Amino acid sequence: MKAVTVVPGVPESLRLRDVNRPSPGRGQVLLRPVEVGVCGTDKEIIEGKYGKAPEGSQYLILGHEALAEVAELGQGVDNVGVGDLVVPTVRRPLDCDLPVDFCPVGHYLEHGIWGLHGHAAEYSVTDAQYLVRVPKELADVAVLTEPLSVVEKGIDMAFRIGQARFDWKPRNALILGAGPVGLLATMVLRLMGLNTTTVATRPPESLKARLVRDIGGKYVDATIEQVTGEFDIVVEATGSWKVAMDSVRNLAPNGVYVLLGVYPSGGSMQGVGDLMTQLVLNNRVIVGSVNAGLKHFELTLEHMRQARSQFGDWLSKLITKRVTLDNYQEAYSWTHDDIKTVLEIRTS
Ligand code: BGC
Repeated sequence: MKAVTVVPGVPESLRLRDVNRPSPGRGQVLLRPVEVGVCGTDKEIIEGKYGKAPEGSQYLILGHEALAEVAELGQGVDNVGVGDLVVPTVRRPLDCDLPVDFCPVGHYLEHGIWGLHGHAAEYSVTDAQYLVRVPKELADVAVLTEPLSVVEKGIDMAFRIGQARFDWKPRNALILGAGPVGLLATMVLRLMGLNTTTVATRPPESLKARLVRDIGGKYVDATIEQVTGEFDIVVEATGSWKVAMDSVRNLAPNGVYVLLGVYPSGGSMQGVGDLMTQLVLNNRVIVGSVNAGLKHFELTLEHMRQARSQFGDWLSKLITKRVTLDNYQEAYSWTHDDIKTVLEIRTS
């Protein structure tokens, strides 16, 4: 079968290889991926900065954002059936009893990222207990489930932390970045009835800006220094530590700041005393959030349904590029105006 592979740690090693079709063990299923989303983590892996091949393999099959059809059941599987449309979660625990998305670094594997093959292939294998069934009516947008689940968890964290202290009722939110994560965060917060301001550097007539306005959000084309006002929730989705540091001042008293990016190492510590004082003096919280488990995958599907009824086909407009497996290389090149690129593995 064909699979999109890299040799982790080796830049420019992206290849379409012919590899053996895997077979499901006990408790596993064979999946026939339909679509796979491409994200910044894939980019880092392709650049040789991140990623790990499975034990005993020279290469890693990419693809952690997948929509797939169940092709075959391993022994003992009864939670899904052949032909079901499913989305798999990414992480699997390694000597860790916590909910898997809270397992510390070193205590998990990740499909398509760290030690387990992904789904950018004609077939893939995963554990049946980590699958969520997708209703047919969401099939056209369900490839967005994984990135949306990460956003759902981050926002859920903000509410739980905020409300652990008193009856906190956030009214407005600032979202930094209008890539897939920033736009999905805007959508979730709009569905929850908050006033949202999304800040990015694309011009006001760009698709990203229009998408924000289409769901009743405010779009601001500015750099972070120009943003004024205080917000109960801030969601950082640019991956710039400078943007993150400079926007803590935009957090309202008792507000919760959610970091969803992965930041380059280094950065200046200047101003860090002020930043800490800002946190202390008004009970502000900064929380980092990564990955998501079944609970947030389910919430994602619920919000997708709501989005469909309130915002029509808005979600499908986030998929700005579709590429077939044979042209896979095109899926891994970006422009600033691309939002989500999807690799189409199976077209019929
Ligand atoms: C994925 C997460 C994953 C993280 C770190 C992200 O792109 O969405 O599920 O845990 O990368 O590897």
